[in-house]
Amino acid sequence: MDIRLLHPSDIPHVQQTNITNLPENYFCKYYLYHALSWPQLSYVAVDVSRPKKTPYDAPKIVGYVLAKMEEDPADGIQHGHITSLSVMRTHRRLGLAEKLMRQSQKAMYETYNGVYVSLHVRVSNVAALALYKDTLGFKVIGTEAKYYADGEDAFSMRMDLEHLKQEALDEESDEEDSLGKDEGAAVGSEGKAGEGEVKKDAGEPKRKVRVGRQLGVGELVERNESAK
Ligand SMILES: CC(C)(COP(=O)(O)OP(=O)(O)OC[C@H]1O[C@@H](n2cnc3c(N)ncnc32)[C@H](O)[C@@H]1OP(=O)(O)O)[C@@H](O)C(=O)NCCC(=O)NCCS
Repeated sequence: MDIRLLHPSDIPHVQQTNITNLPENYFCKYYLYHALSWPQLSYVAVDVSRPKKTPYDAPKIVGYVLAKMEEDPADGIQHGHITSLSVMRTHRRLGLAEKLMRQSQKAMYETYNGVYVSLHVRVSNVAALALYKDTLGFKVIGTEAKYYADGEDAFSMRMDLEHLKQEALDEESDEEDSLGKDEGAAVGSEGKAGEGEVKKDAGEPKRKVRVGRQLGVGELVERNESAK
């Protein structure tokens, strides 16, 4: 099973998965809007156990998460939102929904500095509620009466993404530890520096350079080039 980013070419297959599993369905352009506006946030689960016979065979998409950043958050706090999530019956209870959700939440935090993630779920949806509450740690913050077209109420749920900061810091310190410890012995011509030769990099400590992480778009300031 492969969990990867949603590509625009996946949309008809994702739409098929959505129609099969949920009564809340969307026009193709709504999926495209997500994929083009927040390309880091939506993921698909692809069953790669049966390899393609021709290059034209469609990927076997068995699950997806469609997610976005809230554009005008009422509380003024940058946060993500899960628009839709589903996994085909044939592939449930394999941990796919959990993985899809975690990938999306990580990207909300790392790419957009999202402070929390929100979603709505039917009050009767036992499976999804167990996933959100028990497995992922979402909290119910309210109930929205008749939220769904058939009149069912929705729980409004939310989860802070602050814990991902600690995970990112832990990952970084693990990387630093492994860089510091095991440099390995120099091999080949590098390892055979003769008398009088100075080994390149000898004694120069490796420096860790921060790339990308936590440089959310919220912190990027556009350069004023009109003065030139
Ligand atoms: C909800 C749904 C996405 C879960 O997908 P999944 O890939 O089977 O979920 P996972 O395997 O990642 O399950 C993770 C945890 O969620 C909970 N869970 C999942 N399905 C459950 C079920 N039928 N009953 C109770 N708990 C369930 C369990 O705690 C599970 O952990 P465990 O398997 O270790 O017990 C899937 O059932 C589905 O597509 N349902 C129809 C569409 C839907 O309701 N989407 C959500 C709309 S808000």
